[in-house]
Amino acid sequence: MSTRTSIHGAWSGRLAFILAATGSAVGLGNIWKFPYITGENGGGAFVLIYLICIACIGIPIMMAEVMLGRRGRQSPINTMQALAEEASASPYWKYLGWSGVVAGLLILSYYSVIAGWALAYVFRTASGVFTNVTGDGASSLFGRFIADPEKLLAWHTLFMVMTMAVVARGVKGGLEKAVRFLMPTLFVILIILLGYAMNLGEFSRGVAFLFNPDFSKISADGVLSAMGHAFFTLSLGMGAIMVYGSYLPANVSIAKTSIIIAVMDTLVALVAGLIIFPIVFANGLEPGAGPGLIFQTLPIAFGHMPGGEFFGTLFFVLLVFAAWTSSISLIEPAVAWLVENRGHTRVYAAVVMGIVTWSLGLLTVLSFNLWSDFKPLSGISVFENSTLFDLLDYLTANIMLPIGGLLIAIFVSRIMTSDITMRELNIQDSQHAGYRTWQFLTKYIAPAAVVIVFLKVTGIFDITVIFNAILG
Ligand code: PHE
Repeated sequence: MSTRTSIHGAWSGRLAFILAATGSAVGLGNIWKFPYITGENGGGAFVLIYLICIACIGIPIMMAEVMLGRRGRQSPINTMQALAEEASASPYWKYLGWSGVVAGLLILSYYSVIAGWALAYVFRTASGVFTNVTGDGASSLFGRFIADPEKLLAWHTLFMVMTMAVVARGVKGGLEKAVRFLMPTLFVILIILLGYAMNLGEFSRGVAFLFNPDFSKISADGVLSAMGHAFFTLSLGMGAIMVYGSYLPANVSIAKTSIIIAVMDTLVALVAGLIIFPIVFANGLEPGAGPGLIFQTLPIAFGHMPGGEFFGTLFFVLLVFAAWTSSISLIEPAVAWLVENRGHTRVYAAVVMGIVTWSLGLLTVLSFNLWSDFKPLSGISVFENSTLFDLLDYLTANIMLPIGGLLIAIFVSRIMTSDITMRELNIQDSQHAGYRTWQFLTKYIAPAAVVIVFLKVTGIFDITVIFNAILG
């Protein structure tokens, strides 16, 4: 095992790391994004592809990222530089760290705006705005809310301040303290809400929508979204898990913890789906409603159930907590780098990166109102209706994260020696079945999957063309 130590400190133990990494993974991706993109892509088939991607690409790459971080013990940029040097590989590998930092800031710029919606909805639900609200009523309240750039900006600003406040306090005093309180609370709230959804008449329809695959409903772009979402939801491909790995004590098992984190993240997404779709169907709503889905559907449920104000408030508090423990990991790679390379204090670094991200967030704020008709790539068919927010989301989740993940898989399986990876994974025998599986997945399956899906979406590679050629 490597003998480096991190200048930023370390988690107090295995549980703290699991909570922090699960906190990073579980976020808006699970509770806000997973339901609405599942709805847009027709349900079961999309979910199945997403689950396969988690198992065959997500878990092995998560192990890879934790390993790189723990061995490098620095921000992803410096870790990649140090490990490339150690392997006598090209110094350009450090740009993998850079692209992660950029992806993290871009994601956080829109993530924070959506988290701002959740913040606003905490107060709206608590004040009883949704009591007895109708489907149309909830939609029009949401529509008026996002049409107001000043409101979105105010909530986005508040959320960025919350994020910076935690990051500025450091690994043990900020990040770890926050997740130790927030994550258990989140699990309790989810279970309470699942209980509510199970008692709705349409629970079984929700289950069928999520788990009965109908492959006629999914396109190549849908497959890319499922794969991109596997990266997004596990926080992979941009260095968040890598930087958290750099604070991981040396004796903790990377394989076991990665599997625990991925399983918890997947469970939360499925439970969120099981809460939301029964409500959607019970109220005759549209599963493909887009990014506003949970903000348009859940208030109806909360507006009619006994104790709805309480449960509704609780739900949006949960969403804010989940987003908060993810946002700190989106900005941590950038902050750690500023501290390491420029010698700034954490407080200063958090403020600088926070301001950069906040400013980028203005693009998303405006894309829901004043610039909602600005569709710069409308000439390309998949982007026909894409606003700046949609493009940012697509660029990061569907392009930058999978490419980052692809390169990480290549690095651990082809650049690092198996001596080193075996030592980090605590494996003595190179024929160990688990180790061989991991190697196979990172060396062949993950890279091939990313490349094939890309080629398919861009239309360069069409499996049907090959079949037709073979079959004459
Ligand atoms: N995994 C987080 C979510 O599901 C988002 C995220 C992506 C966080 C990438 C860190 C890095 O909401």
